[in-house]
Amino acid sequence: MIPPKAQAKGRKLKESVRRPWRARCEEDLRAFTDADSIRFWGIAHQVQGAAKPIFNYRFEHTLAAVKLGRWLCPLVDADLDVVECALWLHDCRKKLKDPLTKDTHAMDASVAVPGILKGTDFPEAKIAAVRHAIEHHVGLRLTKKLTPIETACVWDCDKLSKLGAASLIHFGCISGAFQPITTQDILVRGEAWLDLCEGIVASMNTGPGKAEAERRLAFLQTHYQQLSHEWREPMRASDLEPLQSPVP
Ligand SMILES: [Fe+2]
Ligand SMILES: [Fe+2]
Repeated sequence: MIPPKAQAKGRKLKESVRRPWRARCEEDLRAFTDADSIRFWGIAHQVQGAAKPIFNYRFEHTLAAVKLGRWLCPLVDADLDVVECALWLHDCRKKLKDPLTKDTHAMDASVAVPGILKGTDFPEAKIAAVRHAIEHHVGLRLTKKLTPIETACVWDCDKLSKLGAASLIHFGCISGAFQPITTQDILVRGEAWLDLCEGIVASMNTGPGKAEAERRLAFLQTHYQQLSHEWREPMRASDLEPLQSPVP
């Protein structure tokens, strides 16, 4: 029989060899999404002997959502472990595919969570909350506010990451993977997206999330107005305010 002192020491040792959960989440997401990006694009860059995707949309979108989670959680007293972990993993099994295929990515990700976190220092008691948030993150419109606050934050951050400046980079970089694209196509799709964005803004769960969504939507509207001006009416003067030059 192992004496209690040795048992405690063994437990402590086990704790100390547990991997940091954030690094584990990032590693799993990177591996899955790099492989899926290369599969979907059907082409890769060779970087120091390794195949690298042209653009890993899923990873970049997730990183944007994680950054938003770190910003939003303290503002609404949400548990950052739960929110950040759910954001890292919310799309961790989502593949780039035909939109007509049945989408089960929220449940697929939720099922994968315990396996990904196994052997990490993530508190086991919080895993159920992570899975709940992941299972409820889908859809661009809500008919009622989500609870608890962690699930609400994950929905808000996922949607906020689809608005604003970074979203334009992500949208522009992935578009060519689905079909040949032109500036005109990007403009038309962007304008159609603005209509859906109104629904996202109206559905935001948290006060700070909604205020930020309104700011980001206003930015997107200005962006597409300017793009429309440049592309459809290049001879008309721009509506944008000129930059103020210092008075001599
Ligand atoms: Fe998703
Ligand atoms: Fe997402």
